[in-house]
Amino acid sequence: MPAPVLESLQNDLVDYRGRGLSVLEMSHRSSDFAEIAAKAESDFRLLLNIPDNYSVLFMQGGASAQFSLCVQNLDQRKKVAYANTGYWAKKAMASAAALTNVVEVTACQTEPLISIPNSKQWLDVADASFLHVTDNETIDGIVFDEIPKTELPIVSDMSSSILSQPVDISKYGMIYAGAQKNIGPAGITLVIIRNDLIERSEQAGLPPVFNYAAMAKAGSMLNTPPTFAWYAAGLVFEWLLESGGLTAMAERNQRQAEKVYQTIDKHDVFQNSVCAANRSRMNIPFRLSEESLTKAFLDEAAARNFTGLKGHKSVGGLRASLYNAATDDAVDALVDYLESFARGKP
Ligand SMILES: Cc1ncc(COP(=O)(O)O)c(C=O)c1O
Repeated sequence: MPAPVLESLQNDLVDYRGRGLSVLEMSHRSSDFAEIAAKAESDFRLLLNIPDNYSVLFMQGGASAQFSLCVQNLDQRKKVAYANTGYWAKKAMASAAALTNVVEVTACQTEPLISIPNSKQWLDVADASFLHVTDNETIDGIVFDEIPKTELPIVSDMSSSILSQPVDISKYGMIYAGAQKNIGPAGITLVIIRNDLIERSEQAGLPPVFNYAAMAKAGSMLNTPPTFAWYAAGLVFEWLLESGGLTAMAERNQRQAEKVYQTIDKHDVFQNSVCAANRSRMNIPFRLSEESLTKAFLDEAAARNFTGLKGHKSVGGLRASLYNAATDDAVDALVDYLESFARGKP
């Protein structure tokens, strides 16, 4: 999370703006929290330019709960279409397959994954309830370079790309994102959903806290929400607005990612085979050409105070994540380390 946000959190933790009360202690029904919640939503709407015919829901259960909930709330036709573009898309598909008929419209075939096929080459499934995509594959380091062309409402998992760049929300039926990458602390999940799709869930027979229509009607406060995570997310939204909004964030992310990719591409000791158009600006997985040096690379990284450079357990290797809170100084330090590792290799 951005340092100025952590500092505000620290101040408000003990005493929220002179109230003699911590944010952690506030009732979600209090006027202070009502203000916090409303401001967070309106700043989020402002950042992403969310049209009036979309609702924003603050839910729980992480993105993993949405893997099932989007099906349970929206699948009127008992058929859903999925783009299988990597680790998280597969997880989402497996959750959907336990509930309904899933059609895989495209699959990335290579190992490791290197690109997303153009949506014109995808299977055309006109009778599905929606098309599900995973905007940014956090583990595989693959991002969509275009919004797929389809007549179906698109449901997009943007857990690891939300707020990293402007998005044309009107092209999507629903977007969901667990908070813990670019939004704030874990514990809250943001859902942006077009109002006509919400109506589909009215008869879904789900517990109200998992029902989009019921949650929208109750302003996401059917029960006690994760108030601290909601508040922290609001501070991140304020920080983003003060930092120039998502256009500025996109420029910064692009610049930072380019620096790292250029260094990786320059030295044979590092490998990332994702094609340029689909290279993620948030997550950069790479491997050492001599895999046996991976432990030495990580040990030296730890000595230089880098954490989280180890690749996901499912794929191994290495991964640099450049979420919005990554500073230019941190990225420069990483590039310096990569350069010196490449030079030091016999
Ligand atoms: C793209 C993507 N989708 C889903 C998830 C799962 O999120 P959660 O842990 O919030 O369920 C993650 C977690 O890293 C992710 O990166």
